[in-house]
Order: sequence, then C-alpha cells, then structure tokens
Amino acid sequence: MNIIEIIEKKRDGLALSEAEIDYWIKGLCEGSIADYQSSALLMAIYLNGMNDEETFYLTKAMTYSGDMLDFSMIDGVKVDKHSSGGVGDKTSIALMPIVAACGAKVAKMSGGALGFMGGTVDKLSSIPGMSVFLTTEEIIEQVKEIGIAMVGQTGNLCPADKKIYALRDVTGTVNSLPLIVSSIMSKKLACGDDVIVLDVKYGDGSAMVNIIDAENLARSMISVGKQYGKNIGACITSMVQPLGKAIGNVLEVKEAIDTLHGNGPEDLNELVFMSGAQLLSKAGLYTYDEAVKVMKEKVENGEAAKLLKTMIEKQGGDGRVVDDTSLLPRSAMISEMRAEQSGYIAGLGSRALGELSMDLGAGRKNAEDKIDYSVGIVLNRKVGDYVEKGDILAYIHHNRPLEKAWIDKYHTVTRYSEVPVKAPKIVEKVI
Ligand code: URA
Repeated sequence: MNIIEIIEKKRDGLALSEAEIDYWIKGLCEGSIADYQSSALLMAIYLNGMNDEETFYLTKAMTYSGDMLDFSMIDGVKVDKHSSGGVGDKTSIALMPIVAACGAKVAKMSGGALGFMGGTVDKLSSIPGMSVFLTTEEIIEQVKEIGIAMVGQTGNLCPADKKIYALRDVTGTVNSLPLIVSSIMSKKLACGDDVIVLDVKYGDGSAMVNIIDAENLARSMISVGKQYGKNIGACITSMVQPLGKAIGNVLEVKEAIDTLHGNGPEDLNELVFMSGAQLLSKAGLYTYDEAVKVMKEKVENGEAAKLLKTMIEKQGGDGRVVDDTSLLPRSAMISEMRAEQSGYIAGLGSRALGELSMDLGAGRKNAEDKIDYSVGIVLNRKVGDYVEKGDILAYIHHNRPLEKAWIDKYHTVTRYSEVPVKAPKIVEKVI
C-alpha cells in the first residue's frame, strides 16, 4: 500500500477501504506520511466526501490512534456536551459548571480554534494562569474532588485528531461532514463519558451552512455513537448570527461568566438551559422540567459561578476573574462601529465576523500563529434590533491601530430592512 495511491483513489471519487484508512492514520501518527500528503488527502475527502462505512472506519481508526480514557473510577454519571463549532460559541464555559453544580460529573475535553470558529481551549487559556493541559490522573483526581475539569486533549488522546484538526484549521478543510463526524466522535468515544449531547450548528457562522446538512451531521454522529453503545442525543441550533454578543477569547469568557451570574444574553441563556436540561435528563438525574428549575437555582444561589471559580483555581488560574471580570486581560484600544443608516438589522454575516475577529488576532491563520486573547468584537445590536443612523452597532477590541478594512468589513456584513425583522430562533430541533 502507498499513500500516493490512496490520495489518488480519493481524488478520483472512489471509496477507501478500512485497511487504507488505517494505513493513513497509522502513518500520520508515526510521521511516515508527510503533512502535505495528509493535507492533500483531507482536501480530496473534503471535495469527494466519504460514505457511511468510510466515515465509521475513519472514526474508529482515529479513536484507537491513542489512549482510551477510563473514567470508571469517578462515581456518578459522566456527561459531555460537544459543539460542531460556531462564531461566539462559549456555551461550554457557562454550561458545564452549571450541570456539575447540579450533580453531574464533568471531565470535558475541548479543542482549540478551527478556522473562523473559536475553540473552548483557547478561550479558557485566556484566563490568566489557567492550564488546560492536565494528565489523565490529574483530571480524574480533580473531577473526584470538585466534580469538574475542563481541559484540552490530554497527551495521547486521539493523536490522529490532534494532527488532522491542526491541518484542517489551516488548509480550508474544516467544513466536511466525514471530517467533523470523525473528529468529534473519535474524541467522544475515546473518553469514558456516559451521556453525550451534541450541539450541531447551522448557518454561515458554522461548519454546516444549511439546516439539512446539520441534521445529516447530527444523525451521522448519533449513529456512530449508538454503534458504540453511547447514550447520545443532539440539538440543531442556529448560527445565522453569532451566539451572544461577544466574539474573541477573553470577551467570550466574560460573557460566559455573566451568564453564570444570571446576566447573559438571551440566546446564550436559552441554549445553556436547553442543553443542560437535556444532559441532566438523559443522565437520569432529573426530569427535563426539574433540571431547568435546579439549574436556575444553581445560578441564582451562586453555586455554579463558585464552581467555575474553584475549577479555574485548581487549574492554576486566577479565580478572582469570576467575581471581577475587569481582571481579565484587556485590549489596548476599543473602537465603535456606527450604523450607516436607520432601520432594522436584517442580517449579520457570522462567518465574516468570525473572520474579522481572526484578522484582529483572535484566531490562527497559520499553525504557528500566536493568538491575541484580548481582541475581538462585542455586538451592540443584533438581528431584529432597530437602529438610528449613527447608533453604535458594535465595539472592536484591538491592539493594532484601527484598519479601514475592518470597518469596511463590519459595514458589508450588516444588512438593514425598513420593515421589522424577527430575531432568529436559537434552538431549531432536538433529536
Ligand atoms: N469540534 C471538533 O472537535 N471537531 C470538528 O471538526 C468540529 C468541532
């Protein structure tokens, strides 16, 4: 077998066998297959897709490319929520401390930024001192002690995904159904979680632009999960505009903390409570309605926020940021974007806003780029809001001098209507 023949086969639209997929994943991990060859194969997969069998074999090869985590020594139900990614998606940072405060056990492994979409690991890393790199033993100890750990992929968990994820991030191959299924599900299967809820996003600020593709993605992941005996469900949620108001690492952490204090934006709050209630009811800890009630109590009595603080401190970070978000890093400059006309906001291009945030330095354009945690965008008006000409649409947080291209981009992504526009629904469907 050789990798050039495998690349050519996929380039020509043919299905790969289990042995060929295993050969690629083994060579990728061992380093005998060069990154440029894997990148070419990823592009061929992106362009020609994979059938269900190939997707299953790819997921399997990636799952077993490293260690399988065993969380059986943690008592209680281990739950996880994983998003297919979207602009401004800071849900996990608000949600996981709430469900942990409600009695579920959370050993959450997240990824970094992927293309124009941010990543939870980068967001958590923007908290001063916070480490997201814990050993498996440290994760288990921390979850046993406080009920929650939120980290990046530990040493040898799905090394194949780590490499592929980094290549996809910089080769224009993020939005591919088989590559998303295998990336997300390999990590979920290699972890010992009992209950998984997938947040599958649709809209131009996510990997799946239309809702049908998002549903196909959700069903494909559920099918793989069920074949491995997982208690798994999904919700289809909107990314036709960014989630919440903040885009960019520290800005999103602040918004997640506000949500934990009960002061989050409406759409984020709705998503947090809906996915939390799904996790807790699937885990058999509460009925759906009871879960919503208990989650609200944990926010109102401050227990959920206190748990985030404890987790940050356990992981070496400055937990005081939970009580005082002004301690989070701040950009040197903040500039206002003002409405060029009066009217109802009819559309905000989420993808373009994610790209603008990357231009400011909040994401990576090359694998070796360093992220600037403090930069990003805070929306002051969203779809459905009425604005007068000159009103503030958004604040750009930046460290480099303001560029005209950023202002132009913001104005091109903002669409106006003379007639009222309904704000889009956040949760479209639960599967
Ligand atoms: N999250 C992942 O872990 N992988 C993807 O491909 C998308 C979101």
